[in-house]
Amino acid sequence: MIGPMQLYVGLTPAYSPHISESKTCSPCHTLISNSVDLTGVPTGTTFVEQATYHEYLNSDFPLVEMATCQTCHMPKIEDPIKIANGYTALPGRTPFNLHTFAGAKQFHGATHQRQQSKLRGVCSRSNVRFNTQSKHSTIKTRNADLISQFDSSGNDTAYFSIQLKNKAGHKFPSGYPSRRAVVQFVALKANGDTLFSSGLFDNDYEVKNISTPFEAHHDFIHSSTQAQIYEMVMGDVNGNKTTVLERAFAPLKDNRIPPRGFTTLHSAYDTCAIVGDALNDLDFNKTAGLEGKGHDIIHYHLPLGGYSGNLSVEVKVFYQTLPPAFLDEMKTFSSAEIDTFLSMYANANKSPFLVKSDSLINILIPVGIGSNTT
Ligand code: HEC
Ligand code: HEC
Repeated sequence: MIGPMQLYVGLTPAYSPHISESKTCSPCHTLISNSVDLTGVPTGTTFVEQATYHEYLNSDFPLVEMATCQTCHMPKIEDPIKIANGYTALPGRTPFNLHTFAGAKQFHGATHQRQQSKLRGVCSRSNVRFNTQSKHSTIKTRNADLISQFDSSGNDTAYFSIQLKNKAGHKFPSGYPSRRAVVQFVALKANGDTLFSSGLFDNDYEVKNISTPFEAHHDFIHSSTQAQIYEMVMGDVNGNKTTVLERAFAPLKDNRIPPRGFTTLHSAYDTCAIVGDALNDLDFNKTAGLEGKGHDIIHYHLPLGGYSGNLSVEVKVFYQTLPPAFLDEMKTFSSAEIDTFLSMYANANKSPFLVKSDSLINILIPVGIGSNTT
């Protein structure tokens, strides 16, 4: 029997093992741009905008875990799958690799259509509907692990540490530069009043109280005006923050959590470097000086303001595909494409995607810890 490709498009597909290798994904998931200055004149230098493949090379996944991009993004299922619609006699194929290419997000509005037209069939989620259930959940549970811990109290302060472990085969988040992860930390008093909060969103899903032009990486958070945001921030020729891809000249911050096995000594490190305060953070991808841990530990020091009694803490890690401020600069330009995109964005569901959450309840802060009693 002849297959659907021979029948409908007159092409005979041939098997090649390279399609199962990570190198198949690397040409597109490595993006190096030619930088321009603010007047559009090329600077003659390049900027590594996306280096998912290099991040992966600089990890345990290719050689220790023996996992390819496809292992996670195109997981194998053993059930026989019909690879084309409207072809009833076609026998099921097994094994079959899912073609969903799920990332962390659930942002089907504006960007979905954009990708569909940009991709022309490669990597699209739904050009062909396979007779199977979406396994988005596998990729979601493999994102990151979160461990929250109450350490101690003293000096009118309660000390907590939050460990976030990256389980992806590259940085978390990876890919397009707008992607970011936000850690939200809220501590409530016994009567339900908020004692401390960090990383809350406003109505537009921008993080409240963060610094401009961007929030630095934190090892310690001791005020509600600080929040941990894992992101890459691009700088232009003058060292100012930019979200215009062509103007990107050098990164100002990159504290996206490295994958397990990532080191500053790897030959691909220059294309996926850690930038900014995360470099000086002793538990960012490190334990006792040893690199490659694939985690970050954030230390929250909560000013108690004299409070004693029970505390409960809720920690949430959110993933944001396209935070509102990423479009601020775009809004200063105008074209038919920009206008269309901005109206699609306005109508899209922009609520951040909850990656992980954890809570600690009934932590007793003894009388005498507060400043008014000590
Ligand atoms: C011919 C170029 C090309 C190749 C080859 C390619 N991709 Fe992509 N991929 C893209 C583009 C373009 C996007 C959309 C990026 C965007 O708009 O954010 C994308 C998006 C994705 C996404 C994100 C989907 C989402 O949720 O938004 C994943 C995951 C992905 N690709 C994985 C892979 C893997 C794994 C391979 C190798 C098996 C691969 N890609 C090969 C071009 C490619
Ligand atoms: C160990 C599992 C694993 C491996 C191996 C892996 N990924 Fe991922 N990938 C993930 C997870 C989990 C996410 C979602 C979290 C994130 O964005 O980092 C993701 C996200 C992505 C995204 C971003 C999607 C978006 O929504 O923007 C791209 C692109 C991507 N992966 C491509 C690749 C490529 C290319 C490779 C191989 C070089 C690869 N991945 C290897 C698990 C993996």
